[in-house]
Amino acid sequence: MTKKRILTGDRPTGPLHLGHYVGSVANRVHLQDTYDTFIVIADIQALTTNFDKPEGLHQDVLNVAMDNIACGVDPKKATIFVQSAVPAIAELTVIYSNLVTVQQLSHNPTIKTEAAQYNYEESMPYGFLGYPVSQAADITFCRAHLVPVGEDQAPHIELTRKIVRKFNTIYAPVLVEPEQILNPRLVGLDGNTKMSKSLGNAIYLSDTPEEVKRKVALAVTDPARIHPTDKGHPEVCVVFAYHKTFNQQEVQDIEERCRTGTIGCVPCKNRLTQVLNQFLEPIRNRRQELEKTPDLIWDIVKKGTERACAEGEKTMALVRAAMKIKYFEVEEGIKG
Ligand code: TRP
Repeated sequence: MTKKRILTGDRPTGPLHLGHYVGSVANRVHLQDTYDTFIVIADIQALTTNFDKPEGLHQDVLNVAMDNIACGVDPKKATIFVQSAVPAIAELTVIYSNLVTVQQLSHNPTIKTEAAQYNYEESMPYGFLGYPVSQAADITFCRAHLVPVGEDQAPHIELTRKIVRKFNTIYAPVLVEPEQILNPRLVGLDGNTKMSKSLGNAIYLSDTPEEVKRKVALAVTDPARIHPTDKGHPEVCVVFAYHKTFNQQEVQDIEERCRTGTIGCVPCKNRLTQVLNQFLEPIRNRRQELEKTPDLIWDIVKKGTERACAEGEKTMALVRAAMKIKYFEVEEGIKG
């Protein structure tokens, strides 16, 4: 039996952080054995908020590929590819734009949150408003069944499903309606619901042990705790949230000691620093090894992109036939 297909991915806007790891990368590593996994490096989507700064893209595409591989994504199992190099994604984006309304996009809660972040409320670039349509193309060009992503991506998956249903009803049932696999979310160091580069509240997978220590020292804890003997409320503490995710062995004990005021925030943070550095060390080491041979990484991405292009062409043959925009050559449908 052929494996079901997964499509997921990242915007190349810098090196990946712990939020990416928890919210996406960990699960794709876990699922890559069971599913035919496609990982998009969404450079066109990154440009929707960075169109005037393309200089960093080349390095950031490489960073995202290296971070994924350092975390355990195996290029033999997963297809890592660049969004801008797959023509089917651009073509489907244009085709889907007829199946979506401006109102639908402007009510999308993730678009609203991000628009506020980038000061786009007054004057919104068309490309930014439309990136969920392009994301629907990322997901459907390879006929993915499953999309493992965080909660913030749910509106985009919902929109993708609507586009697919509309397409399949109007033209012919050739597209696959994907389902979301909900990944957990890691809060930012400042307590913001999302760890993100643009909010400046992230620990990067490539941070040095000293940077991790400095950042954990700044993390927001229970404001009601002034003395180490004050009784704490772990549920409002960022450091506790990280213990829960990265230190399952000790988390119960830490919760108990925080609630009873028998561990201070400083030792609690020091323990977290140790745990995070232990977790990050093998990733850092692999990352440093990979950095020595960028050509090998580019080769992996090139091969992945070639496979993605071939899959995209199969989908486009079906789409063109369904839409009756197939005029010249005789095209073959999907084999197998
Ligand atoms: N929007 C995603 C993010 O900000 C990145 C992304 C682009 C994506 N295309 C995708 C995720 C397709 C899943 C599927 O992290």
